[in-house]
Amino acid sequence: MSNYHIKHLEEYYQVYRKSVREPENFWGEVAEEHFMWRKKWDNVLSWDFNTPEVKWFQGAQLNITENCIDRHLLTRGDKTALIFEPNNPEEAAQHITYRQLHARVCQLANVLKDQGVKKGDRVCIYLPMIPELSIALLACARIGAIHSVIFAGFSSTALSTRINDSDCKLVITSDGSYRGSKSIDLKAIVDEGLEDCPGVETVLVVKRTNTAVTMKEGRDKWLQPLLDKAYQDCVPEIMDAEDPLFILYTSGSTGKPKGMVHTTGGYMVYTGYTFKNVFQYTENDVYWCTADIGWITGHSYIVYGPLANGATTLMFEGVPSYPDYSRFWEIVEKHKVNQFYTAPTAIRALAKQNISFAEKHDLSSLKVLGSVGEPINEEAWHWYNDVIGKKKSPIVDTWWQTETGGIMITPIPFVTPTKPTYATLPFVGIQPALLDEKGVELKGNQVEGRLCIKFPWPGMARTIWGNHERYKDTYFSAFPGMYFSGDGALRDEVGYYRITGRVDDVIIVSGHNLGTAPIEDAINEHPAVAESAIVGFPHDIKGNALYGFVILKESGESRMHDNLRKEINQIITEHIGPIAKLDKIQFTSGLPKTRSGKIMRRILRKIASKDMSNMGDTSTLLNPEIVDVIKDSAL
Ligand code: PRX
Repeated sequence: MSNYHIKHLEEYYQVYRKSVREPENFWGEVAEEHFMWRKKWDNVLSWDFNTPEVKWFQGAQLNITENCIDRHLLTRGDKTALIFEPNNPEEAAQHITYRQLHARVCQLANVLKDQGVKKGDRVCIYLPMIPELSIALLACARIGAIHSVIFAGFSSTALSTRINDSDCKLVITSDGSYRGSKSIDLKAIVDEGLEDCPGVETVLVVKRTNTAVTMKEGRDKWLQPLLDKAYQDCVPEIMDAEDPLFILYTSGSTGKPKGMVHTTGGYMVYTGYTFKNVFQYTENDVYWCTADIGWITGHSYIVYGPLANGATTLMFEGVPSYPDYSRFWEIVEKHKVNQFYTAPTAIRALAKQNISFAEKHDLSSLKVLGSVGEPINEEAWHWYNDVIGKKKSPIVDTWWQTETGGIMITPIPFVTPTKPTYATLPFVGIQPALLDEKGVELKGNQVEGRLCIKFPWPGMARTIWGNHERYKDTYFSAFPGMYFSGDGALRDEVGYYRITGRVDDVIIVSGHNLGTAPIEDAINEHPAVAESAIVGFPHDIKGNALYGFVILKESGESRMHDNLRKEINQIITEHIGPIAKLDKIQFTSGLPKTRSGKIMRRILRKIASKDMSNMGDTSTLLNPEIVDVIKDSAL
């Protein structure tokens, strides 16, 4: 029996049982047999979910890039580590071998050192999906700098808030980025954002679009000439297992984003081990995850997990609709992709197109199909299974979060029988629990409740940057002694899990996690707005879309409203980015509020979803009459 590579259902149950009964032995063996350490740990795990404090492999020393690159050089030096597929299909793809990746990571690491970056410093990375992005993560990790990648679709305000929160001293960006037929002036966004970031000393700029940019004397430098002069080897910084590897921001229930902190040893072991099993990766496979590296999926399953296994990982700069809706399938055929990992939003958008877009391409290389980021509905699941997988490639519906670092509930392909819309069984080492509102654990099957995790796993985030109290409040206070995910789930008659969606004020739009509070804060900045409330409503492609209820300071004429709607979406774009724009905006004279002044979102959600039949108990409302007023002018 192999602990590392699970191939049969019986093996899964055996390994799972071991991981729960003897977690320290289990994870100790996985870590020892499959990863490279400079010094072994003194202690596999110490934990307390009340403080909360979790430490894995304490006392161990390592560098994650030695695991992701150096140790493959002898046996896989000429193997392709990274395939880069550009936005424009006419531009040649790039194949970067492990040896070349090593040289490029070392060069950038040396440039960062020359610019004064030291172990523990924070580096902000704001780049499109080009090889330099993966290389930048690894270069930071090489020298022990903590990377903070900001998704390149975020606005200048969102960028500066995040840069200041973690006090980044250096930013890596590019002149511009390509997205389908559009090109975006990234450097201009950075320039605007940095007006509010006095702590940033240096900006390194990658040339991608050749658009004209302003270079600020003494601060901004083109990266290529510095790389050309840099030495192609760089001694890795030796890190403690619990040293931070990166910060990645996620939205929450207040306006301030949460900088989730992931540490080095546990994150490496967990992403490496989950990658191997969830994608059943074998040596010559080509693996493609369509996520952006600006999100956790890209960190864990484009960069660290695949490279820790010596895999070939493809990164794609563009969008599924450019030049047309066959692009994904063209790439699968061109690079003979074996494992394909994407989001339900993309699946739904592609399933709406003429079937010939998929059918004209040879998809026979595909072995495993993954889904992540939001619940996958039955129709999309079947289309993916039938049209793309030809019913022979199992779908792995993987549930996890920025906070969990790696996949938590998932089928193991060819091992776990799949069931449409179910993420199925907990991954090895994961102990889920469903709790009712009072915090009582619901035992047995056929129950539905709040999804919690009872026991630590190596990939979990350790804190929120600069705010451990908030980490405790958000994840460990609702149900003391447990990690609370913020999601609801049900467990069916055989113990399979199905994620039912968020139970807090986070809305998943097109797979992006959006807190309502930051959007409301942005809208309330509009001089004409007195108050606002955002809820989600079901959307064919995006899963959820956003519906805003807005109270104006002075009720304007209705013909003004369309202009106001545009302005409100403009303000949201400036504060957060276009992903947070509202699909519908209803102007109203009031919002349903409880006596303690809380907006009753449950009612707004029903109205936004056009589910007007039964509004439930409205007796605790301060202003029950407003419900009919809002209903009557619902959009
Ligand atoms: O609500 C769950 C949903 O996405 C949330 C996490 O979002 P984020 O931190 O951005 O990470 C996304 C990629 C890991 C979860 O709380 N979610 C994620 N995967 C699934 C899902 N909902 C249902 N099914 C999934 N497979």
